Amino acid sequence: MNGITRRRFLGYIAGLASASSVPLTLLSDPRQAIAGVAYNPGSSSVLKDIEDMINQWSMEGAQRFAGDKLEPSNELQWQRLIDFYFPPRDKTGPVPYCTSVNAANLCPSLRYVDEMVQWVDNVLARDISFPLRGELATASQAYATDAIKTWIGQGASTCAPPCLMALTRNTTEGNNILNNGLVDSGYFNPSQDNVVVWDQNHPTNFQAWKYRKATKKWDDGSVRIIGTDLFAQQPSSNMRIPSDPQSIDPIIKALDTAMDKHTRVVSLSWQSNECGMLLPMGDVVEFIRKKYGNNVHIHADSAQTFGVLDLKLGGLDVDSIAGSFHKWPCGPKMVGLLYMRADNSPAERFLPNNWGYDEYIKTPEDYGYDAAKGEIDADAKRFSYLGQQNDATLVSTWITALFHTGRFHPNVNPKVIENRIAHLGNLTKDALYAGLPQVIKDFKERPYYYIATPTTHASLRSSVFLFKTPPGIDPGSVMQHVYTEHGYAIAALAGLLRIAPTINNTKTDIDNVVKAVIDVIKKMQKGKLPKNIHQRSYA
Ligand SMILES: Cc1ncc(COP(=O)(O)O)c(C=O)c1O
Repeated sequence: MNGITRRRFLGYIAGLASASSVPLTLLSDPRQAIAGVAYNPGSSSVLKDIEDMINQWSMEGAQRFAGDKLEPSNELQWQRLIDFYFPPRDKTGPVPYCTSVNAANLCPSLRYVDEMVQWVDNVLARDISFPLRGELATASQAYATDAIKTWIGQGASTCAPPCLMALTRNTTEGNNILNNGLVDSGYFNPSQDNVVVWDQNHPTNFQAWKYRKATKKWDDGSVRIIGTDLFAQQPSSNMRIPSDPQSIDPIIKALDTAMDKHTRVVSLSWQSNECGMLLPMGDVVEFIRKKYGNNVHIHADSAQTFGVLDLKLGGLDVDSIAGSFHKWPCGPKMVGLLYMRADNSPAERFLPNNWGYDEYIKTPEDYGYDAAKGEIDADAKRFSYLGQQNDATLVSTWITALFHTGRFHPNVNPKVIENRIAHLGNLTKDALYAGLPQVIKDFKERPYYYIATPTTHASLRSSVFLFKTPPGIDPGSVMQHVYTEHGYAIAALAGLLRIAPTINNTKTDIDNVVKAVIDVIKKMQKGKLPKNIHQRSYA
């Protein structure tokens, strides 16, 4: 580390510590500093220390925020939440602060999450004994998964095996573990079955199926694709969905056309990162179950709905979901969630493609399943044999789940988050409707021709908005200039720009980021900012 970089780094660490209620000494002696517990390797309990921190943070939140009910449009109260629970937007860090309006890709982590990651890392720098790591495993595999179940509407339970979920690396891994597992088990037999996917699925759940088909030489009809007519209000055929549907009918019709009695898997992005459409998953599932029963495995890729919607999975008949903590939940980086229902035993349809061990350094055989006979847990515990992972980020999923269920700010809950994000979506639409006509002449006559996200029905979107730039203005360069000139992180993908605000954003952020986009486009049109300087596209 050279001198300047090192100074910036230390400044950043100091900024983190001073912004929090935790003294700076945290960095030298984590347990003593945070929990007031003497650090005594071999005898003190990290689990107890973590619980002490949680209790302290809980008391702080109860005192500070009891009166903040967090109505979706109460900017003052949301600003107070952001100021307290997110890293400070100041100039003391290693790089100038950049406001993220790109939750569909990555979010800043909650401050307590950052602190817990750092704290566990510091503990592990001093003690990597098995007894200590066993406690950390209990924090992540028992307490965290229990809290996550409550969060996603599954109700708490003891999380000793059998478990319903595993903490994976990210949604990419979750989608692939699951989809490969359905094939490997023989549940999905490509010579007689078909899988239905949507062309607005993320590549990990769309191109991945094309790769499986091509590399394993599956039959032609084995992968059926529901298409999307972008920038349209009417579908061009029965198996296509317009990007601004006038009702849910074309969605159900496309599904009906794609499926037949040989459909064994329907695998859809619950909300698309590519066009921003939020599928009416309740209606989709109801249609499939009514017409084709329980033997179709329904996978809802929830990278764009975990931490967005009040998922209430206990009442929704999807078989599995995958999600990432580093997007909307504002959790730790590079941790994912893979959940599978246990009641109808859909996990039995799945064969793991990992033969590893879990956080307690245990294999399936250690739990009584005979490896020689190919026995494995019948439940979703089978997802959890992933070898060693990062204890610091895994433990911090617990903190994320506690935040979303009101343990810290007492009035946060999944419905409050869903309502706020929906409100931010409406504000984004308003801002785009005010800004885009300044650079696109006929925008007002046909907004759906310029915005890929549903605008007619708010229930078919949340706050992921993709839109066109005027002819000759490349989105990659707009994204680059919005970053360098105005300090906002947005995305450019598939020839479009994307803005995706979440709970770390305010109305002001949304108004300002759209103003920044319009300002940059105008300057590019006048030749005051260069074009074609950033060619990459980011989903
Ligand atoms: C719908 C969807 N699925 C999967 C992924 C992959 O997520 P990750 O990068 O966290 O693996 C993304 C990422 O944007 C996504 O939007």
